Amino acid sequence: MSLDVAAIRAQFPILASEVYDKPLIYLDNAASAQKPLAVIDRMNEVMTSGYANVHRGLHYMSNKATTDYERARESVARFLAAASPDEIIFTMGGTDAMNLVANSLGVEHLQKGDEVILSVMEHHSNIVPWHLLRERNGVVLKWLDVTDDGVIDLAAYRALFTEKTKLVAITGLSNVLGCAPPLKEMAAIAHEHDALIFVDGCQKSVHGPVDVQDLDVDFYAFTGHKVYGPTGIGALYGKLNLLNSMPPYRGGGEMIDRVTMENVTYNDPPHRFEAGTPPIIEAIGLGAAVEWMMAQNISDLCAHEQSLTQNVMETLTGLNWINLYGQDPAKGPVVAFNIDGAHPHDVSTILDRSGVAVRAGHHCCQPLMTRLGVTATARASFAAYNTHEEIEVFVEALKKAHNMLG
Ligand code: ALA
Repeated sequence: MSLDVAAIRAQFPILASEVYDKPLIYLDNAASAQKPLAVIDRMNEVMTSGYANVHRGLHYMSNKATTDYERARESVARFLAAASPDEIIFTMGGTDAMNLVANSLGVEHLQKGDEVILSVMEHHSNIVPWHLLRERNGVVLKWLDVTDDGVIDLAAYRALFTEKTKLVAITGLSNVLGCAPPLKEMAAIAHEHDALIFVDGCQKSVHGPVDVQDLDVDFYAFTGHKVYGPTGIGALYGKLNLLNSMPPYRGGGEMIDRVTMENVTYNDPPHRFEAGTPPIIEAIGLGAAVEWMMAQNISDLCAHEQSLTQNVMETLTGLNWINLYGQDPAKGPVVAFNIDGAHPHDVSTILDRSGVAVRAGHHCCQPLMTRLGVTATARASFAAYNTHEEIEVFVEALKKAHNMLG
């Protein structure tokens, strides 16, 4: 069945906005997706009729908020096909999840000289926490190259492993090239070498179902605001035996078992990793977002996004003044490009005047920019609510930008 895009759009109030007297054409979804009424209304409902602190009170409202917060955890566990909600830690976002793993796992399992494999197309949030560990603990970072289209050579990946390799940290879908690494195969190779695998799923989770058990990854992180949910919240999946073996990342309320003046013992996962009052409203909003996604036909959402991507790729390939970065036919709906002779910031500004929102810059991927031999690109990224008519306006605006700048 094809997607009823009009019905989807009607659920996203912001899409009725105008910018500079033009209809908003929002093609910056890889940076952050817009929010459906299911999320907006649920968060309002919490604040107007179901809010108190969680896990602390014995009163009605606290019990209600606690139940809703824990139900959100169950929703995220279903969304990722995790074995148990105890394997889901609420974090402040994707970056926070990656820092949690680098710090907690790093302290417990990584010693000086141990190796971490990263691909050159990682987002800075999946690079800098490992650099911090390199600076602090002497961990060695090993870099996996990709083709210009972001394709990984599994033989080259396998060749990077030594007896010191402890972890692979890899994106689930590149926020620049749109390509999706073969996670299941990469996880199997990591495990053959007794290494763990962490997946940065921030871009992947919105573009198709994820089954962490089938992929057999050890950790998987994603952020709320890219899956039509709120900012300030994300989730980290970790296999329970690993989470059980990891020390806390932050100290504070709720993550303890018992505190004395001499000592402290810690709560079990996931609470061990959720110090302090959590982002309660945001977690419940994230639960609503993933429930919204699961209530749609995710295959239809993806097929629609793929048809938009194919349309854009075919159209832009026909314009000899456009350089495209990432042309893997199986890529996700992320299209990075430059116009010959024009700076992407200027391109983005001209598109903006036509109502078209794209991102321009290094996309927090400076190693990849170096690998591609550019300092920046423009980037259009699509969501389930984008339309082929919007693509036409985008392409016309690009032609205008080329006439002005190229
Ligand atoms: N990581 C987000 C992006 O790629 C912000 O735009």
